[in-house]
Amino acid sequence: MNIEKNRAALRRPRKLAARPGGRLERCLLMCGIVGYVGARCAQNVLLDGLTKLEYRGYDSAGLALSVGGGIRVIKSKGRLTALRARLEEATAAGLPAAHCGIGHTRWATHGEPSDVNSHPHSTPYVSIVHNGIIENYGALKAVLEAKGYTFVSETDTEVLVKLIDSCYYGEPLRALTQALARVRGSYALAVLFRDWPDTLFAVRRESPLIVGYGEGENFLASDIPAILRYTRRYSVLEEGDMVVCKAGSVQIYDEFGRAVQREKLTADWDIEAAEKGGYPHFMLKEINEQPAAITATVSPRVEDGLPDLRIPELNDQRLASIKRVHLVACGTAMHAGMVGKYVIESLCRVPVEVDLASELRYRDPIVGEDTLLIVVSQSGETADTIAALRECKARGAYVLAIVNVVGSTIARLADCALYTHAGPEIAVATTKGYTTQLSALYLFAVWAAEKLGRIDEMRYNELVAELSALPARIQRAIDLNLHVKYLAGRWHAQRAMFFIGRNIDYAAALEGSLKLKEISYIHSEAYAAGELKHGTIALIDEGRLVVALCCQTALFEKMVGNIQEVKARGAKVLGLAPEGDRRIFAEADDVLFAPGGEPLFAAAPEIVPLQLFAYYVARENGCDIDKPRNLAKSVTVE
Ligand code: AGP
Repeated sequence: MNIEKNRAALRRPRKLAARPGGRLERCLLMCGIVGYVGARCAQNVLLDGLTKLEYRGYDSAGLALSVGGGIRVIKSKGRLTALRARLEEATAAGLPAAHCGIGHTRWATHGEPSDVNSHPHSTPYVSIVHNGIIENYGALKAVLEAKGYTFVSETDTEVLVKLIDSCYYGEPLRALTQALARVRGSYALAVLFRDWPDTLFAVRRESPLIVGYGEGENFLASDIPAILRYTRRYSVLEEGDMVVCKAGSVQIYDEFGRAVQREKLTADWDIEAAEKGGYPHFMLKEINEQPAAITATVSPRVEDGLPDLRIPELNDQRLASIKRVHLVACGTAMHAGMVGKYVIESLCRVPVEVDLASELRYRDPIVGEDTLLIVVSQSGETADTIAALRECKARGAYVLAIVNVVGSTIARLADCALYTHAGPEIAVATTKGYTTQLSALYLFAVWAAEKLGRIDEMRYNELVAELSALPARIQRAIDLNLHVKYLAGRWHAQRAMFFIGRNIDYAAALEGSLKLKEISYIHSEAYAAGELKHGTIALIDEGRLVVALCCQTALFEKMVGNIQEVKARGAKVLGLAPEGDRRIFAEADDVLFAPGGEPLFAAAPEIVPLQLFAYYVARENGCDIDKPRNLAKSVTVE
């Protein structure tokens, strides 16, 4: 390797333009990282990878390329189209094809999206893209300023790159090790050193990063879809791993600097699964994939008509020791957990608590060795959920993860995992993630109830048959509600909406309401139907739409009472009832249907028309459905 400079000379702090009045502000990121080294045009591979990762963040993007003996950085505020345009300009002006580079798509919660805050951040000698938070960036910045470094952005990442620069004397691994030893926080980093133009460096701590293996080329990425077009073979990096990646070799070092091998996995997702396949939006595609995703989740675990979780660690002895269940998750996954509470308590007769992961860690929870902690997560990388998992594990809980992404942090931290097989979920608003989580929770509840002797054989057989019927019921829920598009046309102009239900319908109402608000930006609230009159009913006014979930047939009469209450205050009602239950026509202005079946499993089919309703309302309103404003797919910061 040609290191042409006297490193002592390189250590002179280089003056970079100061941003007048620049505010020192931490930049929290949930982003996509991609890296490429090989014979292809790196610009094309990186842009392609970033397109697949754009769901992780989409307020700015950038590339750093090893070209002409230096590092060329091109970045831009805005969606990838803005970066693409800048790249085209640069190509027209003579930028050659690079064969080694890193790229980034960003979602900021602090530090405005701007060209200057975008990644990569660089010095003349090193360029990095970063996902995570440098907690002590303020102190580090002061030290670097004292050495003569100046700063142009508001990001913690700029502090990090200058810290690495200050430790760099021609040996990249030493520079990374020394710099990161002084850093507190979380990071997945991909790094280019000017003096090493055919090598990618990467480090991972508490933020996901994979290495993809090609023929004469290799990849780095935050997530599998970014590399799927080129290779299915990959390894998930472990905490503290550092990688040296060349076109013909990948060397991984663990946190103690020892050369290690990480398990090579093969992604069974096909490329089409990560593309739209003729649908106008990923969300609509993923709604329609639900029957197949549930089949993939349930059928391998029902053998000869009997559920078998295929988790040897969760044996009879372990199960018998469990005195309580704690379900912990965020957002939609927490809504799945709420349904899980009703189902597990009803079938297993074990007390179940549901916690928002972001709350649990600050409330000294009653969790111990007799607790089964069920952590629910699509991505397996949600920071709050990971923190709650760690907290409960430290208190002795046994952890079962219901998780979609194989090898994710949650899957690896848990004692055992029950994978949902939803395939890649790209739309920010989760749909098949939710229904596969429900299916896994149903499966667990039926399996545990039988093992614990809490249900008789007849009930058990009935429930197993219902589990097997779920995919068909979901398909029926899609087919039954073709008129939902028309209903969305009727109601899309509402300023606010309410969702009400009782029991499991209430848990489903929470999810229906979240779907609507996150993609259509219409304010909506979900209420336990009986609770509405204790205050919130004051918000019901003339013409306000109330979506009334009436799929718990035993509670239908109670729901009729609640429907009457809101109608008396001028509300219009969109009723959601089991197929064939004609009583709803007498009560509601408009009607959606969910196929009947086991009431305990009603949430899975009944959410489908609500997902479709949210989708078509957002479409009527011209919203960016797959990438709603202010959101990111995977929330990897607290
Ligand atoms: C749902 O549509 C949201 N995207 C969000 O609530 C999500 O479910 C939550 O952030 C949890 O994510 P996870 O399942 O990946 O842990």
